[in-house]
Amino acid sequence: MKKRIFSALLSVAMVASLLVGCGSSTTTTTTESTTAAEAETDAATEAATEAATEAAEAVATGDYADKKVGICIYKFDDNFMTLFRTELVNYLVSLGFTESNITVMDSKNDQAEQTNQINNFITEGVDVMIINLVNSSAAATVTDTINASGIPVVYINREPEVAEEERWATEGIKATYVGADARQSGTFQGEVLIDLGQDVVDINGDGKVSYIMIQGDPENIDAQYRTEYSVKALTDAGWEVELLGAVQRADWDQATAQQKVQDALSQYGEQIEVVFCNNDAMALGAKQALDAAGRTVGEDVFLLGVDALTEALELVQSGGMTATVFNDHIGQSHQAADAAVAFINGEEVQNTYVVDYVKVTTENAAEVLSSLQ
Ligand code: GAL
Repeated sequence: MKKRIFSALLSVAMVASLLVGCGSSTTTTTTESTTAAEAETDAATEAATEAATEAAEAVATGDYADKKVGICIYKFDDNFMTLFRTELVNYLVSLGFTESNITVMDSKNDQAEQTNQINNFITEGVDVMIINLVNSSAAATVTDTINASGIPVVYINREPEVAEEERWATEGIKATYVGADARQSGTFQGEVLIDLGQDVVDINGDGKVSYIMIQGDPENIDAQYRTEYSVKALTDAGWEVELLGAVQRADWDQATAQQKVQDALSQYGEQIEVVFCNNDAMALGAKQALDAAGRTVGEDVFLLGVDALTEALELVQSGGMTATVFNDHIGQSHQAADAAVAFINGEEVQNTYVVDYVKVTTENAAEVLSSLQ
C-alpha cells in the first residue's frame, strides 16, 4: 500500500511544485505560492491517503488466495515493463493473491506466442487475465477469444484502438484498458524546451530548432503520440522546427538508439540541437553516442526521454539529460490489479483508466528518485 499512497502523493506534490514554479516572479509571490501550494498539498495529501485507504479496504474484502491470475508481458527484455511487472506481482500479493497462483509469461515480442499463452490460460481456467499485447491491432481477436471463455481481461500499456474499447462497452464484454495518455508525455517533453526558451534551445540562432527523433516501436500508440506531440508543443507555441533526416526507429532499445544517434551525429553534427527519444532506454543510448561525439547536454544539445528509469533520473539530476517524464508504473500496475479484483468480485469496471504522467526536470529529479527507492 505504501507505494500506492506515495505515488498519489508524488503526483500531488509534483503538480504543486509546478504551480509554484509557474506563478513565482518575486520572492514574496514565491513564498505566498509555496504556502498556498503547501496547504493544497496537505489537503490533497489527506484526500489521497483517504482514497488509498478506502481502495485498500474495498479490495481487501475478498479472499483471493486461491484466485488465479494469468499475465502476459509483451517481452521481458524491456526496462519499463520490467518495473511494471515487478510492481504488479508485488501489489497482487499485497492484496492477498498467492504468488504461485500468479503466472507471468514472456511473450517474446511475438503475438502468435502470446496467443498460445492466452489459450493455455483459458485451458487452465484462470480467474482473470492481465495482458500487455504484443500488437495492439490484435486486440479484437484476442478479446473475442478470451471473452468466449467468460474470463475478464485487463489490458495494460499498449492501448487498443478506441473503436475496439467502445465495442467492449456496447457488447458488454468484460474488458478494460489501464494506461497513460501518451499525448501528455509528448507534450511534457516539448513544454520543458519551451520553459527553457527558444533563444536557448535554438543554439545556433538560425531561427529554427533542429531536432532528431528516436522512435519506439511505431505500431505502438505511445511511440506515435510521443513523436507527434513533443514537436506539436513547440509548433503550437509558434516555434519553427526542422526534423533532420527521417524519424529513426529504435524500438525502445538502448543499443539500437545509440547506433541511430551515432549515425545522425556523423551526418548532421552540430546542426542537431535537440534529441527527442520516445523513452529513457533510447535516451540512455543517445547519451552514450552524444558523449562519444564530445557533445555536452545543456550546452550544445538538449536530450529528452520518457519513463523515469533510475539511470535517467540520475542523469537529469546531474544535468546529463535535459528531462524525462515519469511513466507511473506504480499507479498503472495498481490500477490494473484493482480492475482485475473488481472483475473477480463482479463489481463495476470502467471502460478505460488513465494514469497521469509527471514532468521531471533538474528541479524535481531528486525528489522523484527518492520517492521511487
Ligand atoms: C512505453 C514505455 C516504453 C516501453 C513501451 C512498451 O509506455 O515508455 O519504455 O516500455 O511502453 O510498450
